[in-house]
Amino acid sequence: MFRYFITTILVFSSNYCYAEISDEIFYRNIQRITDPSILEDARLDTFTLIRKYGYPCEIHRVYTEDGYILEMHRVPNGKYNAKKGPKPVVLLQHGLLSSSAEWVLMTPGKGLAYILAEIGYDVWMGNARGNTYSRHHKSLVATSSEFWKFSWHEIGYYDLPAMIDYVIKETGAPKIQYIGFSQGTTVFWVMTSTRPEYNDKVSAMQALAPVVYLRNVRSPLVKAIAPFTNTLEIIFKLLGKNELLPNGKINELAGQTVCVEEAITQFLCTNLLFLVCGFNEEQLNKTMLPVVMGHTPAGSSTRQFVHFGQIYKSDEFLQFNHGWIKNKFVYGTFRPPAYNLSAIRTPAFLHYADNDWLSTPNDVHRLSRSLKSVVGKFKVPMPEFNHLDFVFAINATNYIYSRLINIMEQFK
Ligand SMILES: *[C@@H]1O[C@H](CO)[C@@H](O)[C@H](O)[C@H]1NC(C)=O
Ligand SMILES: *[C@@H]1O[C@H](CO)[C@@H](O)[C@H](O)[C@H]1NC(C)=O
Ligand SMILES: *[C@@H]1O[C@H](CO)[C@@H](O)[C@H](O)[C@H]1NC(C)=O
Repeated sequence: MFRYFITTILVFSSNYCYAEISDEIFYRNIQRITDPSILEDARLDTFTLIRKYGYPCEIHRVYTEDGYILEMHRVPNGKYNAKKGPKPVVLLQHGLLSSSAEWVLMTPGKGLAYILAEIGYDVWMGNARGNTYSRHHKSLVATSSEFWKFSWHEIGYYDLPAMIDYVIKETGAPKIQYIGFSQGTTVFWVMTSTRPEYNDKVSAMQALAPVVYLRNVRSPLVKAIAPFTNTLEIIFKLLGKNELLPNGKINELAGQTVCVEEAITQFLCTNLLFLVCGFNEEQLNKTMLPVVMGHTPAGSSTRQFVHFGQIYKSDEFLQFNHGWIKNKFVYGTFRPPAYNLSAIRTPAFLHYADNDWLSTPNDVHRLSRSLKSVVGKFKVPMPEFNHLDFVFAINATNYIYSRLINIMEQFK
């Protein structure tokens, strides 16, 4: 019965890896949870989950220029505020290894999608190619390595524009607002720098834990893998082919720095998302962990990791590095071109936190110096606030969402 829930699918490009969390660890932890509703939330898909809580939800299919079929989820109005008619439209874009579920996992009153729907927004949630909901292509099957030949560049260059055009066409809104979390911000900068006309389709962008420069990352796992990023083979070796986290180098490294001998953190150590991002004990609602585990990791290509690793190493926001010979063929230059940040014009608001392992304050400051479209930069007033807290924290509403909503109201 819990099969679906227990298994976590993790996909690495060119090889389709199916990883299972150890049943033993899972059951040891799951037994302590008695609320069947929480167990149910862990295995429902985004659409069914939203409907379960009495909110309207629609599924939309969007085709990209290069043939990927993306599934979007829309909450057109709130449960209590069911007002129809024209509304301000917002697109929420999830982070790496995640999906649209990210915005609703924490239940109504806590999940950002619900909050925005209740205050009168028409809420659209994107799903990047390769995740649980966007595993289809006009001609490629998701088990082929050809399907997985993309990094976040393609998500920004193809997926976002396709979704934005679709949303604008469907709603008739002249412009939409955008909220991205982590990689959801990276893909936005990719889009607006490579296809500048999309700057005019978005009235304001809220960047939660923005990611462009990575020199100061503090995630031990990322720092451990980054030096090897140009060698896919080594990554495969490190991650193992059929296990999520074999007892190898990664577990050792992560074990020393992230995991302590306590049931709850051991549980977290089975999840790549927490290994990469760390967690903030105080803001993590442990009752909700099975739900987070049930929905993440939601799939991504190896190239997404590799591309981030290249950014970390080169310390520049460059397109994917295929190696100099192929670069010459693909880009016409031996070195991958830099994303042109001067082409970005959409007013942007950066929200960052001191203890964020991935989107560190120094890297965010550097981004805000390089982007002339930054209007505001806000630090979360909690020193322990970490990366995933932007979407999962118990107090996300007080710490971030209330400010974010105040800003958004000015762009309606
Ligand atoms: C944690 O989640 C449970 C289940 O949704 C909820 O009942 C509880 O109030 C949450 N705790 C906090 C501190 O928000
Ligand atoms: C970058 O974008 C700016 C503004 O659109 C433009 O003036 C400039 O020529 C671009 N630079 C490159 C290298 O394309
Ligand atoms: C955090 O949320 C809890 C539960 O919703 C609440 O009791 C508490 O006052 C909040 N703390 C802060 C600092 O806002």
